[in-house]
Amino acid sequence: MKSLLFALAFAAPSQAGLRFGCSTLSIQRLDPVVEPGNVPSGHVHQIVGGNAFNATMQGDIAEQATCTTCPFSEDFSNYWTAVMYFKHENGSYHRVPIYPNAQIGDNTAAVQGGMTIYYTQKDFNSNGNEKITAFKPGFRMTVGSPTTSTLDAAKGHHGLRYVCLDNALTRFPELPDFPTKKCPGGIMTVHHFPSCWDGKNLDSPDHQSHMYNTVKEAFTPAGPCPASHPVKMPQLAYETLWNTTMFANMWPKDGSQPFVWSYDDRKGYGTHGDYIFGWKGDSLQKAMDSSCMFQACGNGRPLKSQTAAQQNKCSIKNTVTEETQGWLKELPGQKMSMQ
Ligand SMILES: *[C@@H]1O[C@H](CO)[C@@H](O)[C@H](O)[C@H]1NC(C)=O
Ligand SMILES: *[C@@H]1O[C@H](CO)[C@@H](O)[C@H](O)[C@H]1NC(C)=O
Ligand SMILES: *[C@@H]1O[C@H](CO)[C@@H](O)[C@H](O)[C@H]1NC(C)=O
Repeated sequence: MKSLLFALAFAAPSQAGLRFGCSTLSIQRLDPVVEPGNVPSGHVHQIVGGNAFNATMQGDIAEQATCTTCPFSEDFSNYWTAVMYFKHENGSYHRVPIYPNAQIGDNTAAVQGGMTIYYTQKDFNSNGNEKITAFKPGFRMTVGSPTTSTLDAAKGHHGLRYVCLDNALTRFPELPDFPTKKCPGGIMTVHHFPSCWDGKNLDSPDHQSHMYNTVKEAFTPAGPCPASHPVKMPQLAYETLWNTTMFANMWPKDGSQPFVWSYDDRKGYGTHGDYIFGWKGDSLQKAMDSSCMFQACGNGRPLKSQTAAQQNKCSIKNTVTEETQGWLKELPGQKMSMQ
């Protein structure tokens, strides 16, 4: 009896899950994954994470960065998405501000803008008794594509969704495209990445085929990994909360929804995210092997933490010096657009 209980205790799933708010590192036209070396890249991004971020970054960035805008101080990864703009009837554009995730509380309420990052195992409650293998130095990937141009294709990207927020805590329903009505609490965008790895390649020509996507909607558990991509990695996801309040009285008279991505996408079908792994040493693996949840993973149990003030202090100098805020005549880099 005793040995049976012992065995059950060890068979119990571990629960590790990370959820943390990173403040903004930079907002500019750079894209070291899809357009390495292009200064500027095609469209504006909002980037959080370590300060090794640049147009040509390569290798183990945890060894190159000296600070991070994320609360776990060994996480020098970079996380980014496109930027949302408001298009005024008069033809001008204005960047939509980002606000921090109220669910996280603690120091995160004090961070500037940024994103909420998740590394889960299966869902919020278990890893399904599977070994989760952390990403390796040099690993990078993208999810979604700015060239996605149909609603059906957008629906097929189950991990890429929009939520029209009644308040900061609204999470459903999830939509495949921009909400068409005013959202009192703003708009949340969600990017769930694939979690099945081919076990060999740190990247691939399209930045996606070394991974296999079994993600389902919301935070429901992803499907099993196929034989071609057998290695289960952490389920990475981003949430961004866009504060649309300042535009509430400026909606177009014809009632059309006025938000547009920085690559000039008014439907939202092309929503996408980018990731470069940068956790120091085996820190992410240690977290995935433990049973801590969310903030409880910090302060050395097992991850090292830093304060919101330290997060906010980390930044980089923009290499692309152009206006991305205020009222703009056009979206940066989108002059040729016919939309
Ligand atoms: C960008 O980072 C790489 C290392 O990843 C470094 O070799 C290069 O000098 C950096 N470029 C600039 C412009 O700082
Ligand atoms: C459009 O409207 C905004 C908000 O009132 C204003 O600040 C901006 O200058 C206007 N743009 C043009 C081209 O009139
Ligand atoms: C959203 O923006 C408005 C100003 O337009 C500001 O008053 C409000 O505090 C912001 N909300 C959050 C949650 O940051």
